[in-house]
Amino acid sequence: MQADDLDNVREWRNHPDVRRYMYTQHEISPDEHHQWFMRASQAPGTHLLIFEQNGVACGFVNITQVKQGPIADWSFHLAPFAQKGTGFQLGCAVLGHVFDHLTLHKLCGEALAFNERSIRLHRRLSFYQEGLLRDQHFDGVRYHDVHRFGILASDWLKAREALAQ
Ligand SMILES: CC(C)(COP(=O)(O)OP(=O)(O)OC[C@H]1O[C@@H](n2cnc3c(N)ncnc32)[C@H](O)[C@@H]1OP(=O)(O)O)[C@@H](O)C(=O)NCCC(=O)NCCS
Repeated sequence: MQADDLDNVREWRNHPDVRRYMYTQHEISPDEHHQWFMRASQAPGTHLLIFEQNGVACGFVNITQVKQGPIADWSFHLAPFAQKGTGFQLGCAVLGHVFDHLTLHKLCGEALAFNERSIRLHRRLSFYQEGLLRDQHFDGVRYHDVHRFGILASDWLKAREALAQ
């Protein structure tokens, strides 16, 4: 991600179909977004990526290494115009990047219990469900469970052959 991706990423992130699945759901202002980018793009062990299809930017991914080590958390969202199936392609590209290029050991993700697409996506990508955190998130009105996922480099090695068929 470069500074000239900022407008796209903010627009996607503020879209109601993306925002409702995030831990913070307020509309992000240009100033807040810019300040976040200045911090995150310089943080060691943080990788801000744009996913492109046929040269068109259609997704954003944040990979953050825990204590800059071999275990990382990821978060992601697509452009609202992205076709079905884009999430799976983005996921495969990210897993290849994380395990082949960054040579990390483990990638972890979290999804709110009502985010069915993200939960199905993690399972389809061969993440293991490692936890169900009960009432872990309060949205201001009610509590939600959080699904916790993880995939090891060795899991991905096996899964990618099966997924390629
Ligand atoms: C999560 C997200 C990246 C998934 O992208 P996508 O393009 O819909 O993903 P895919 O089309 O590859 O589908 C992933 C799975 O969700 C399923 N799915 C698609 N639309 C669905 C829907 N409306 N309801 C339930 N499941 C759905 C697909 O069938 C597929 O599951 P399957 O492999 O078991 O069939 C995308 O929806 C998104 O950006 N959401 C908003 C942000 C977000 O939730 N980010 C993740 C935070 S944890």
